[in-house]
Amino acid sequence: MSLQASFISLDGRRLASALAGQVVGGEVQVHEEVGSTSDLARELGAAGYAHGVVIFAECQTSGRGRRENRWSAPPGQDLLCSILLRPSVRMEHWARLTTMAALGICRAIEITTALRPEIKWPNDVFIQDKKCAGILAETFTGEGGAYMVLGIGLNINTDSYPPELRDIATSLRLANGDGRLLDRNLVAIALLKQIDRLLPLWEHGYGSVIDEVRRRSRLLGHVVKARVEGREVEGMASDLTEEGHLLLTLADGSALTLTSAEQVRMT
Ligand code: BTN
Repeated sequence: MSLQASFISLDGRRLASALAGQVVGGEVQVHEEVGSTSDLARELGAAGYAHGVVIFAECQTSGRGRRENRWSAPPGQDLLCSILLRPSVRMEHWARLTTMAALGICRAIEITTALRPEIKWPNDVFIQDKKCAGILAETFTGEGGAYMVLGIGLNINTDSYPPELRDIATSLRLANGDGRLLDRNLVAIALLKQIDRLLPLWEHGYGSVIDEVRRRSRLLGHVVKARVEGREVEGMASDLTEEGHLLLTLADGSALTLTSAEQVRMT
């Protein structure tokens, strides 16, 4: 009788050797348990660690999402990672990182599975109408200047969600539907390779990023509702601007540009 494994560990040496020579993953740390990989990356940033250091954890005890939400994941099943970045691009463009990360996640999923991910503007990735990944990009200032921490939670092998999340969250394993565990190392390598390939487009060439994001957008062409400055607006998500902002066409024909913080949902 063979026992089916329920866990494929992240292998720091394998990750580091697959990413050797890249900027992203020039140093890779894999921790069994941390509070939050993003909090740890923030500390490393303050301590002067280099652009491109990646922190993975098998378990987070205080994982953070956007808007003060918690980010929970069962130990050893998903990808919980944060990348320390010291951007050389103009600060007005730092917010573009979220969109590049969303694109990198989609490409990595397509490289390692047969699934068709979509980007739900501005920073979620969906598969089969459920969220499978979230992005938290934060900016900090330390002695060596300002830096960013790109936190990514990508659901890979989680095989069940509590009732309140069952209709809105999924993992690559659940979406695949065959019950098999994915090798998280392969997904992590694909993800960090794609982010490494996208970073040079951060300032020059960003138009090509937006073109691909448009094609992968979950919202474009759909009627959405958004909270803007405390009031609810409804409109057609008609396009992304060259900066990656969402253009809504309202019922009276006027246009509204959403810059990112607003909560948007499909009607
Ligand atoms: C969101 O969708 O609200 C963003 C979720 C980001 C979660 C990741 S998991 C790795 C990193 N560490 C954290 O504490 N948060 C991010």
